[in-house]
Amino acid sequence: MTQKHQVILDCDTGTDDAVAIMLAALHPKVDLVGVTTVFGNAPLSATTINTLSVLDLIGRPEIPVHAGISRPLVRKAMPSERFFKTDSVADPHGTYLDIPRTSREPASTKAVDYLIETYRSATQPITLMPVGPLTNIAAAVALEPRFAEWVPQLIIMGGGHEVPNMTASAEFNIWADPDAAASVFEAGFRNVLLVPLDATHKALVTDKQCAALGALGTPAGKATETFVTRRINSYEAMQKMDIPNSAPVHDALCVAALVEPDIVTTKRCHVAVETAGALTLGRTVVDTHQRSRLEPNADVALDANADRFVAMLLEVFGQR
Ligand code: RIB
Ligand code: CA
Repeated sequence: MTQKHQVILDCDTGTDDAVAIMLAALHPKVDLVGVTTVFGNAPLSATTINTLSVLDLIGRPEIPVHAGISRPLVRKAMPSERFFKTDSVADPHGTYLDIPRTSREPASTKAVDYLIETYRSATQPITLMPVGPLTNIAAAVALEPRFAEWVPQLIIMGGGHEVPNMTASAEFNIWADPDAAASVFEAGFRNVLLVPLDATHKALVTDKQCAALGALGTPAGKATETFVTRRINSYEAMQKMDIPNSAPVHDALCVAALVEPDIVTTKRCHVAVETAGALTLGRTVVDTHQRSRLEPNADVALDANADRFVAMLLEVFGQR
């Protein structure tokens, strides 16, 4: 058997991160070495609890979870509050996932130390996959100048070329800590795949596909139905997708692209992040036409194959 893809996920675990964690933990061609957490979809304490709870649910509690940074690197808080509203009295902002809550604690080593030490001593390539604000990654780069050199592959969910979601210019993960994101794109990582909204909005999961995932009857299949249904309901209320009753499951597409790289269509470009400007803060400036003359620093996914993505979810979540 060919060697498995080793991966560390860096997550702000809400619903799509949860599907990414399950896909990485259960895919037979992936070895999920560890998970680090960061603020984002919810406060750090909640993203950490959500991460542990997902691993409990699918019977993978041995995968270590390391809590990371709870606020942006330079700014005191995100550029503005991010409010959710749900019908739940117990959880009015939808902070927690609709699964049993863990009683476990994260590992004692903090995320940034774990990342630096793991890559310092790695004897095999480990892909680093940040799917939340890039704060932990920027901190690792700042603390250890060789960190970028040690990471063989960085797959980032974030940004948008033609598709924003947080403001008219910016995607959430980049907008939440634009200074961190800017420093990551400037850090000299040698093999960067950026999976922005342009690709994730092409890999929509529909309500019917959700029902098929639930009908698999496995913990991962049933949880994915629950999580993606919640996503579909909120997209239907706030931001209609091209396909009715569907939603992107952004972070899970990164895992799919690790295993089957041609599930996304990429273009090699220079990417920079805007850290100023009321209208443009957090914008990923993707130089698709080489106007900056700067050396490309990322492969940017601009399209994705939805059928293959959903087929992978069905196949992997049907097994356990
Ligand atoms: O903009 C989408 C991204 O923001 C996803 O990673 C989602 O989980 C949130 O972190
Ligand atoms: Ca995320």
